[in-house]
Amino acid sequence: MRVTVIGLDGGPLDPEARRHLEKATLVVGGARNIAAAPGVPPEVPTYELGPLEPALDALGAHEGSPVVLASGDPGFFGIVRALRERGHTLAVFPARSSVALAFARAGMSWDDALVVSAHGRDLRRAVNACRAHPKVAVLTAPGAGPAELGRELHPQTPRAFVVCENLGSPEERVVRVRPAEATTRPWNDPNVVIVYDPRKPVGPSGWIAGARPGPDGWALPETEFEHRNGQITKAEARAHILARLGPRVGDLVWDIGAGSGSVGIECARLGAAVIAVERDEESCARIRRNVQRHHVKVAVSRGEAPAVLDHLPVPDAIFVGGGGLRTIEACAPLALRAMVVSLAAVERVAPTLALLKAEGYSAEAVQLSAARFAPLPDGTHRLQPTNPVFVVSGAR
Ligand SMILES: C[S@@+](CC[C@H](N)C(=O)[O-])C[C@H]1O[C@@H](n2cnc3c(N)ncnc32)[C@H](O)[C@@H]1O
Repeated sequence: MRVTVIGLDGGPLDPEARRHLEKATLVVGGARNIAAAPGVPPEVPTYELGPLEPALDALGAHEGSPVVLASGDPGFFGIVRALRERGHTLAVFPARSSVALAFARAGMSWDDALVVSAHGRDLRRAVNACRAHPKVAVLTAPGAGPAELGRELHPQTPRAFVVCENLGSPEERVVRVRPAEATTRPWNDPNVVIVYDPRKPVGPSGWIAGARPGPDGWALPETEFEHRNGQITKAEARAHILARLGPRVGDLVWDIGAGSGSVGIECARLGAAVIAVERDEESCARIRRNVQRHHVKVAVSRGEAPAVLDHLPVPDAIFVGGGGLRTIEACAPLALRAMVVSLAAVERVAPTLALLKAEGYSAEAVQLSAARFAPLPDGTHRLQPTNPVFVVSGAR
C-alpha cells in the first residue's frame, strides 16, 4: 500500500504534505503529533500510536489513503523502517530531525557527533558510547533520560549536557547542566541530550560523519607504550587478545591488572569504553600517560581486584592480565559477551578453561610464542623469541 509519512517539527507543513493530509482517509500517529499537526480534517478517523505492531496491522488492513504523522525526520530512528519492513510504498515528507535542531540550539557542529538511541532499548550501550566518544547525541525515552545518563556518567566521566526538551514546540526548553546536576532535576519528554567533553567542544574536521573510522593499525609495537622492564603484553599476543575481546562502540571493556594499559588503550582506539584496573600507583600514572599519548578515554581504577570490581558498571568484555584465580572466578559470571585471560603459569590454564566452560562460555586455550627477526651485524637474521604466553578465551 502507498502510505504518506509526514514529519513534524513545529514549523509549517510542506504544501504537498498538507494536501496529502487533507485527503487522508486514516491518520496514524502519537497523540501529541495528531494534536499538533496543522490541517488534520476533523472528520477523518485517527489511530493513536501506542504499541507499534497493532498500529501497523490497522494500517495494513486499511483501504484508502493513510497518512502517518511522526516527529522530526521519520527516516532517522523513526517509523520509515517499520513501514518498509511491512512492504509499504512510501511518500515521505521529513521535517528537521530533533538531533539537527538540538545541535543548532546548542550552536555546535554535529558531523563529528555520534547519534545513539536509548528509545525502547537498554541505556547501557548509549552510556558506553558517551564514555568513549567526546560528542554524542542521545535520543532518550522515559526512564532512560538526562537523570539516568547523569547517574551513569558521574563522577567517572567528565562531561557536559545540553538537554533539549520539546524542540520546535511552545514548551521548548534548552538547559545546560553537568551530569551530577542532571540526576536531581525534573525533565520533560521528549528530549534529546547532547553529551560532550567540555574540554573538546569542537572536534576535528573529518570526511565521515559519526564514529571515527577506526585506527590505521592495531596490535601496536611495545615501543608505542611506556612500560616497566618489558612488562607489557607483546604485540603478537595482543593481536589475538583484541580479536577475542572484539571491542567496539557501545561496549565497556575491563582491563584488569592493566600494567601499561596497552590492551585497554587498544580497545579504546577501536571505539569501546574502557576501565583499567591496576593496584600499583606508579603503573596507574604510567597508564594515564599512555592514555594521553594515544588520545583516547580510559578510566583508571586504582585498587586490588577482585574487591575493587564490585562497583564497576557491567562489562561486555573482560581482559584479565593479572589478579590471580580469585579475580578470574569473580569476573567469569560478569562479562556479557567475552572473557580473555592471559597466563604465564601452565598449571593455571586447565582450571581457567574449566571455569569459563562452567560459566557457560565456549572456551579455548592457546599458547602463543612469536620469534621476531633480529638483524645480525653481517646482514643475516637470528630469531629472537618473545616470552611464551597462554591465552584462555571464552565467548557467549
Ligand atoms: C523514535 S525517536 C524519533 C526521532 C525523529 N525521527 C527525529 O528525527 O527527530 C524519538 C526520540 O526523538 C527525540 N525527539 C523527538 N521529537 C522531539 C522534540 N520535539 N524535542 C526533543 N526531542 C525530540 C526524543 O529523544 C525522542 O525520545
